[in-house]
Amino acid sequence: MTDTTALESEFAARIEAASDLEALEALRIDILGKKGRITELMKTLGTLAPDLRKAQGAAYNLLKDAVETKLGQRRQALGDAALAARLAAETIDVTLPARPVPEGRIHPISQTIDELVSIFGEMGFAVAEGPDIESDDYNFTRLNIPPEHPARQSHDTFYLVGKDGAQYGNVLRTHTSPVQVRTMLGQKPPIRIIAPGRTYRSDSDATHSPNFHQIEGLVIDKTSNMSHLKGCLVEFVRAFFEIPDLRYRFRPSYFPFTEPSAEMDIACTRGNGELKLGVGDDWLEILGCGMVNPKVLAMCGIDPAEYQGFAFGMGIERVAMLKYGIPDLRTFYEADLRWLKHYGFLAVDVPTLSGGLAR
Ligand code: PHE
Repeated sequence: MTDTTALESEFAARIEAASDLEALEALRIDILGKKGRITELMKTLGTLAPDLRKAQGAAYNLLKDAVETKLGQRRQALGDAALAARLAAETIDVTLPARPVPEGRIHPISQTIDELVSIFGEMGFAVAEGPDIESDDYNFTRLNIPPEHPARQSHDTFYLVGKDGAQYGNVLRTHTSPVQVRTMLGQKPPIRIIAPGRTYRSDSDATHSPNFHQIEGLVIDKTSNMSHLKGCLVEFVRAFFEIPDLRYRFRPSYFPFTEPSAEMDIACTRGNGELKLGVGDDWLEILGCGMVNPKVLAMCGIDPAEYQGFAFGMGIERVAMLKYGIPDLRTFYEADLRWLKHYGFLAVDVPTLSGGLAR
């Protein structure tokens, strides 16, 4: 009869020595597989006398059980060790400081546009866009500024000239108002859009740049009136300048595309070389606005007998300069890194009405 004790200790030692799960599996096949050591021993049972066969069979079964238990224990141990090693290798130190915020800055113009979009977005305005190169028709005529209209003179327009020297009726848009035309031609009322973007005028000094930015607003429906215009803009300036009781006034004005037209001023105090917004007896002009001229509605495919609405437009640099105390317009375009570091914003300063517009 074969002594299984020696075999058992031999197998136990080899199982213990298996250094990984792969080696352990090879060992299992070697001992218990189809051609394994124990399987081979089992096959010899048939040659034994019945008594002996019974005793020897029982001994082999015990050996087999013992080997299986040992294999199971070793498998568990090796699995645990592998997991522990993996956890150790992939560990993350959550107490380490976050990666430093990148050095780059958001330009004050971009930040201001984000603020404006966020304020008007809360009021339900959608953002509309138009091209920088506009037709004379959209930039002027359909806004009730026909050729020879004196208002054209005040726009210092860049007229585009073809390669052959001829003019094909295109201009660099002098204001964002052509987006009003595009929107009215392209969609049915009710309309509630803002259109921020680049604008161009052939004018350059401390307060004028040939390329600057405006934001336009347009609301068209059946009932919008001057009091809605007023409420909307008062709400806006107070949110934008973050002065809840900011004083303002509306002054009658003239724009060919609105009737009646007005300009909005906000109160300020000047003194000791300082400008304080919201209080005082001085006034700062901040935007132009009015009820959309019925002629403009008609030229843009909207029936003025059925619809009415209001529009407004303002210079983005101007409100940014006022809000952030930036004294010279030209510095916006100089790409001076020291200036940008001073007046720019961090990428994490995302303006929201609830979180604060700017920090
Ligand atoms: N487009 C005008 C400008 O550039 C501003 C404006 C827009 C005024 C809409 C009234 C209504 O000065």
